[in-house]
Amino acid sequence: MFRILTIIGARPQFIKASVVSRAIKQTGGIEEIMLHTGQHFDANMSDIFFNQLGIPKPDIQLDIHGGSHGEMTGRMLAEIEQALLEHKPDRVLVYGDTNSTLAGALAAAKLHIPVAHVEAGLRSFNMRMPEEVNRILTDQISDLLFCPTTTAVKNLETEGFGHKPVKVMQVGDVMQDAALLFAEKAVAPAGGDFPEKFILATLHRAENTDNPERLANIVRALNQVHQDEAPVVLPLHPRTRKLISQQGLKLNVKLIEPVGYFEMVWLLDHCQLVLTDSGGVQKEAFFFGKPCVTMRDQTEWVELVDAGANELVGADQQKIVEAAARNVGRSVEDADQLYGGGEAAQRIVDELVMAGR
Ligand code: UD1
Ligand code: UDP
Repeated sequence: MFRILTIIGARPQFIKASVVSRAIKQTGGIEEIMLHTGQHFDANMSDIFFNQLGIPKPDIQLDIHGGSHGEMTGRMLAEIEQALLEHKPDRVLVYGDTNSTLAGALAAAKLHIPVAHVEAGLRSFNMRMPEEVNRILTDQISDLLFCPTTTAVKNLETEGFGHKPVKVMQVGDVMQDAALLFAEKAVAPAGGDFPEKFILATLHRAENTDNPERLANIVRALNQVHQDEAPVVLPLHPRTRKLISQQGLKLNVKLIEPVGYFEMVWLLDHCQLVLTDSGGVQKEAFFFGKPCVTMRDQTEWVELVDAGANELVGADQQKIVEAAARNVGRSVEDADQLYGGGEAAQRIVDELVMAGR
């Protein structure tokens, strides 16, 4: 049987892989081996997604996290190479743009194992973002490039992928598949006591958290929105928790621990506005008909800005506060099926099956 080795390690990758893994099982003809790098390791950043979303238990569990980017990526590269030599997959499947993505793709490419990349072609055009470096390099060494959007396909065309012996396909976004599939499982976070009207916020990107000035501005903005507009509910990423404490900042909003996907879907469904710097959460706001204010200078999901669903405000306190006031309570519609309508995972698996013949 055609053998695929899937490499995941960070929270959004568990969610993306859950729907593809399910489609692999339903389609048949592929043996999937699951490798977890260990990049995310807290129970509420990892195990909870395997349990809720029915992701097969990893066949290979590495324990690599923390350290510098180079150190983390290098250690993953060495250990993934060993796993690939042992399990001899016909193809490697990677997701998104984390250090686990790049390490997995590079380990495979060096062993001449073909790589399929889910979420290919996204660009922020900001090379200071670790994610931008990871995704550009991963695309370069992949031969099946599964793009979520028209813009992603265009980005690859501009970079000359039309002339390479690889396949670029617009398949839609697996995160929409997940949102549609699991929406009915929505459940309020335990110990909740959530106000009738609230704003959902998430914050973790290195470009914000690792820059003291940006982080302080965002903290001040969130505090102000919480006081003036509506209560802000913020499931706090461990990275942000550490840095806020190191910087001596005080976040006076409703802080909760990171939640599982079913709880997140509930929060998305019940909130009045999403304030975020997450890639995935920007789209999920849209899937749940909620406006989004994005606390970044660029976004890879430009179609949301063009559609008037998402406002990009950077890390400027005033701009965040004003955009929150403008957008709270507004409703947003997915008129154009920007993300494929929930068929992405099956399209990906059909291609994988074809490539394996
Ligand atoms: C990573 C990805 C980012 C993605 C995010 C999803 C890279 C370069 N970045 O960022 O693109 O948006 O995942 O959430 O790959 N930590 C814990 N417990 C955990 C996980 C992390 O304490 O379960 C701590 C780590 O020890 C580290 C910090 O959080 O100190 C950051 O973790 P790391 O995986 O390096 O990067 P993320 O910010 O999570
Ligand atoms: N998410 C979650 N619980 C949380 C915060 C986020 O389940 O407490 C989900 C969110 O709904 C989305 C994914 O995690 O599906 C996004 O991951 P994250 O924001 O960490 O990373 P990014 O998308 O920015 O890479």
